[in-house]
Amino acid sequence: MTARAVVVTGAAAGIGRATALRFARDGWLVGAFDVDQGGLTSLAEEIRVGGGAVHTGVLDVTDADQWRERLAEFVSVTGGRLDVLVNNAGVLASGPFAQTDPAVHQRMVDVNVRGVVNGCAVAHPHLAATPGSVLVNLCSASAIYGQPELATYSATKFAVRGLTEALELEWRSAGIRVLAIWPLFVQTAMVEGMHTAAVASLGVRLTAEDVADEIVSAVGRRGRFPRVHHPVGRQARVMLLASRFAPAWLNRAINSRLTRT
Ligand SMILES: NC(=O)c1ccc[n+]([C@@H]2O[C@H](COP(=O)([O-])OP(=O)(O)OC[C@H]3O[C@@H](n4cnc5c(N)ncnc54)[C@H](O)[C@@H]3O)[C@@H](O)[C@H]2O)c1
Repeated sequence: MTARAVVVTGAAAGIGRATALRFARDGWLVGAFDVDQGGLTSLAEEIRVGGGAVHTGVLDVTDADQWRERLAEFVSVTGGRLDVLVNNAGVLASGPFAQTDPAVHQRMVDVNVRGVVNGCAVAHPHLAATPGSVLVNLCSASAIYGQPELATYSATKFAVRGLTEALELEWRSAGIRVLAIWPLFVQTAMVEGMHTAAVASLGVRLTAEDVADEIVSAVGRRGRFPRVHHPVGRQARVMLLASRFAPAWLNRAINSRLTRT
């Protein structure tokens, strides 16, 4: 078994689906996992019609036992290889914090934080056993500054940012590269019908394919100086760069303006 092997969570739709298709087109063996069996079936058909190779399975990323089972099945197909894990599955709910059901806040924390921690923990031995492996976490421009109307979602992406930065340092000795992808708003079901002030100010300009292209390019980029954070598109690049140099009061003022708060 020689094909490079990638696992993508949340692969049935949106960015995960575009990423799975992109890797498959490039000749990778794709492990596509999601809670949506129907979406996985249609993804697998599309990959196979295009001549690609895919292994699918139902995985709720909040469940560590399911993670262990699905990854064990996948590496038994790849001959033990796991070159890349893309922790992509995520959920978002927008609106005023106090008017959002606590169960909805909890679900975002569960999927976006616990799901990613589970993936990192369960995949670690497989990644460590594969030379040149890469862990990719889907972060977000909402981890630049806390976002009103997206407070909990934004907080979960700060957690993903912190986890990525820590593991990038911690796993260097094991030869695992760790990086975060930072899109602003992307045209997927996640932001369909979302009417926050930030969307009104900044628009929804990226496609899922733009993000998939950045993921594939970030995985392929090897240099002397590791790049941990990968903003997607011009808006996110400018915002991330500006946040690094602007003083705290200015960051706050810019975000207050963008979110009209
Ligand atoms: N769309 C955006 O504007 C945007 C911007 C920045 C970052 N992101 C991040 O990109 C990632 C993908 O977002 P998207 O826009 O493609 O979303 P999407 O809603 O289009 O797709 C998410 C996929 O994740 C799956 N999923 C949800 N809960 C799951 C669980 N518990 N276990 C396994 N799969 C689960 C869904 O079934 C779906 O297929 C998320 O982490 C999101 O936070 C999205």
